[in-house]
Amino acid sequence: MEAVVEVNNLKAYYRAFLYGVDREVRAVDDVSLSIGRGEIYGVAGESSSGKTTLIKTIAGAIRPPLRVVSGAVKFHFNNGTQDIYAMTAEQRSSLRWRHLSYIMQGSMNVLNPVRRIRHSFTDFAFRHMKADRATFFDRVGAHLQRLKLDAHLLDAYPHELSGGMRQRMTIALATILTPEFIIADEPTTALDVIVQRDVLSMIREIQREMGSSFLFVTHDMGVHAAVSDRIGIVYAGRLVEEAPTRKLFQMPLHPYTQHLVASLPRIGDASTRPSLEGRPPNLAMPPEGCRFHPRCPKRMDICSRETPPMVTVEPDRRVACFAVTGGKQ
Ligand SMILES: Nc1ncnc2c1ncn2[C@@H]1O[C@H](COP(=O)(O)OP(=O)(O)OP(=O)(O)O)[C@@H](O)[C@H]1O
Ligand code: SF4
Ligand SMILES: [Mg+2]
Repeated sequence: MEAVVEVNNLKAYYRAFLYGVDREVRAVDDVSLSIGRGEIYGVAGESSSGKTTLIKTIAGAIRPPLRVVSGAVKFHFNNGTQDIYAMTAEQRSSLRWRHLSYIMQGSMNVLNPVRRIRHSFTDFAFRHMKADRATFFDRVGAHLQRLKLDAHLLDAYPHELSGGMRQRMTIALATILTPEFIIADEPTTALDVIVQRDVLSMIREIQREMGSSFLFVTHDMGVHAAVSDRIGIVYAGRLVEEAPTRKLFQMPLHPYTQHLVASLPRIGDASTRPSLEGRPPNLAMPPEGCRFHPRCPKRMDICSRETPPMVTVEPDRRVACFAVTGGKQ
């Protein structure tokens, strides 16, 4: 599959003072992945596992106290290959909207609350489109229609829209310039299940109609099952398993993924779900070896001493676990 982005050995740490001590929070620790053209790649993992930090680092949206320690992020856009950390801030911002769009966590608030929605479109996209006002709004109208949103909503204020409608409008805004790569961080988390379904089908529609690739982040495995083509599971700043969605749900390999899949509610099954003992680690002081070992039902001696490498176990699957790949890697 032709890659639209390649992430290699990426490490990004926060600098934090904890109990008077200067520490590094290793929120993204040696992550490598690649996302194909037209693919929806899902990132899953519990709260504070580093999902948002990972995608900020991929988007080049880094601000202190976060810094990239090592690694590379390369985009293969229509206008050529771009190494996001070899570019100036100006070059990076020129990629924004046209090639790369980033729908941030809680981003329903990007719509200006005191102005009608059409002004948000003008503010964000007008100067990029190089068209006169009438043509610009023709294109905005056509885009909304394609996404099954009523063009009259442009004259509304954000507070007049329901949460789901506001989220769909935010996604319409982020995709008006038909970007090749779209990052969406928990876009459905604040919505109820019915409205979630509308937002997910809209994302599928954009992927089908515009051929865009998505990096889709949510802790909700049920949402991943509905929208992601492939899933990467993050635990404590590391990618621990990656597989096509169907395979991941049918036969999860990593003990943490097995826990996530087993915790999903099933229709007609009222039994209690197994819980995982312990808590996710503090990323300023992560455990040695496999970061999951204090909670892992399958841990072995080697797990607390050595870091399991990410191993390709099938052409389309990778996993970082000694119990799966053998302890002698
Ligand atoms: N500005 C900051 N300074 C220090 N540490 C931070 C900062 N922002 C985030 N962190 C830490 O980095 C780690 C990863 O946070 P991140 O927000 O990336 O997780 P997440 O998986 O997106 O969580 P959620 O599901 O709650 O959105 C956490 O331990 C968090 O406490
Ligand atoms: S490497 Fe060891 S501790 Fe880590 S998930 Fe595999 S078996 Fe568990
Ligand atoms: Mg987050």
